[in-house]
Amino acid sequence: MTMVELKSEVKRLRRFNQELLEGAIALGRKYTDMGEVADYIPELKKQDPNKIGIAAIEDGELICSGDSEDRFSIQSVVKVILYAIALENFTVDELKKYVGLKPSSKAFNSVIELELSKKNVPVNPFINAGAIVVVALLHRVYKERTLEVIIEKASKFLGEEISYSEEIFVSEKVSSFANRTLTYLMLSRKILPPSLEVEEVLDIYFKSCSLMVNVKNLANMSYCISNNGVSLSGEKVIEPEHARILRTLMATCGTYDYSGDFAVRVGIPAKSGVGGGIVTATIDGYGLAVYSPALDTHGNSYSGVRMLEYLSEKLNLNVY
Ligand code: DON
Repeated sequence: MTMVELKSEVKRLRRFNQELLEGAIALGRKYTDMGEVADYIPELKKQDPNKIGIAAIEDGELICSGDSEDRFSIQSVVKVILYAIALENFTVDELKKYVGLKPSSKAFNSVIELELSKKNVPVNPFINAGAIVVVALLHRVYKERTLEVIIEKASKFLGEEISYSEEIFVSEKVSSFANRTLTYLMLSRKILPPSLEVEEVLDIYFKSCSLMVNVKNLANMSYCISNNGVSLSGEKVIEPEHARILRTLMATCGTYDYSGDFAVRVGIPAKSGVGGGIVTATIDGYGLAVYSPALDTHGNSYSGVRMLEYLSEKLNLNVY
């Protein structure tokens, strides 16, 4: 066998190949009209629901299909990165005084979930209330450098220097009624301290959610979390133990009150965002992410979930 033949044989034996990703995209396209783009953030209403993309990493190589270059806002996927930074500054037990490790049973911006939770502590860091608390904790540590620290860490996870969209940030800020309700409830219940610089903290949260990524960036992030915190470029981004905690939270809380269904249907730890991205944590040495902005009623990409279900079955990626 020649070297060229050997290389093509190795490619053929890979889990992810172009044909398979295209098969997933073809399947996903059948579902793009089943979901709706997020409309509670006016700027997100402008997204094209027919966009769809997928990116995977295997043997250090990135392969993609569909709208893999298109940029969209990271939204709640950033909550994984925010919690990763929190883990570098606080122990899990310290963090648990402010944000729990329990799955949620209500929408990601639910007020009643917060009201009913023990001592009004947000149940986990991936719902909005939990992520806002995490940003407040990071702000306590990093003060005016907080956003810079977040962007720097996010760029390492995502494999390239990224920045936020001013339009989406402003749009989130002017329509942030639910997030403000959650924030003021947490202030009144003393989860957040009275001295909190509310506007500054919320701005950091909105800007973090407005970071612009493509599905390839999310595949890099997936690789890093799956690979115990070491990025595709070989850089150690987070501790292996922290990567394990993130994977666990993605499995139990990553798709909100759909997490149980997602675990049964797809069986891969994952985190979704209302921009349409879903980042997964698969096997060591692999990366997998999908994108399509039309969402199900829980705020997860409708086609994205279907594509992951398809790939999980085809490639035997189910971890359970
Ligand atoms: O705060 C919000 O509502 C958005 N910036 C993020 C919500 C989100 O992405 C929920 N995810 N599926």
